[in-house]
Amino acid sequence: MIRVRIPATTANLGPGYDCMGLALDLWNTFEMHPRGPGYSVRTFGEGAEILPTNEANLTLSTFLSECKNMGVAPPEGVHLVCHSTVPCASGLGSSSTATLAGVLFAFALKNRLADCDPADLDRSAVLERAISIEGHGDNVAPALMGGFVIVMPDESGVLTQRVPIAPLKVVVCVPEFDFPTSKARAALPDSYSKEDAIYNIGRAMIVAEALRSGDDAMLARAMRDRIHEPYRLDLIPGARSVQSAALDASAICVALSGAGPGIIAFAREGFDRIGRAMKDAFTVASLRSRYWILDATSEGADITRLPV
Ligand code: HSE
Repeated sequence: MIRVRIPATTANLGPGYDCMGLALDLWNTFEMHPRGPGYSVRTFGEGAEILPTNEANLTLSTFLSECKNMGVAPPEGVHLVCHSTVPCASGLGSSSTATLAGVLFAFALKNRLADCDPADLDRSAVLERAISIEGHGDNVAPALMGGFVIVMPDESGVLTQRVPIAPLKVVVCVPEFDFPTSKARAALPDSYSKEDAIYNIGRAMIVAEALRSGDDAMLARAMRDRIHEPYRLDLIPGARSVQSAALDASAICVALSGAGPGIIAFAREGFDRIGRAMKDAFTVASLRSRYWILDATSEGADITRLPV
């Protein structure tokens, strides 16, 4: 049996649209048991009632297509068990964890068939494959590598830079609101002014340095965005008031978590107060919500081979 454990991630971090992501200490665990013939899935925890339990399951379908892509014959049967604590469709990278798990299982199988340790994987090849399937390197890279990661796709693949950061806690409030990433991306313009590009470039670099050095004042000044938040926030009821409520309750700064609809607040104190203020602001907008108080984690995906 192979087990993989993959963290939640928050992408963009304000101005770093599609280029920066951070792993958070909230985990999805996937187990693949050899069994057969046929494929089966059981889901527990977040989304258990809505996630597919057949071959449409994202982890299983990714595993099977990756086996095919690598020229590896898939086993004649497997039983997949998914334990999720990352809320689905929240802006916390839950689908990245599912895709990455499928890719990791396929690479592990290939290793096992070659008599290598299934846990001893070529992580850069895993990353390339997972990004090409999932599309969002700013979620997949920190999920695999842990910590704060800057992602730069180019014609040779994807360059990633993991930047060690000072200890960090966040409050993420997730409304019950259907805001698919495809819709959030479709809301963005095709082009931007030079002023908006300059605005974001400087701030993204300062956010990276502020996270590295733990300079909260710098983080607060820099965590602003003109590339995606202005177009997305108005599509999420209450999102702007939720951000103001978090700041009024002493958050250092706020951002949309990934493509949303979750809102992330960075803080040093008053975590519950901030979470309650955010939740209350969503309630005023007639949305139910939940909040999580999470540490950033330097740990990324781990893969373990266990006795069957
Ligand atoms: N950078 C991506 C976006 C993250 O904001 O659309 C998607 O999770």
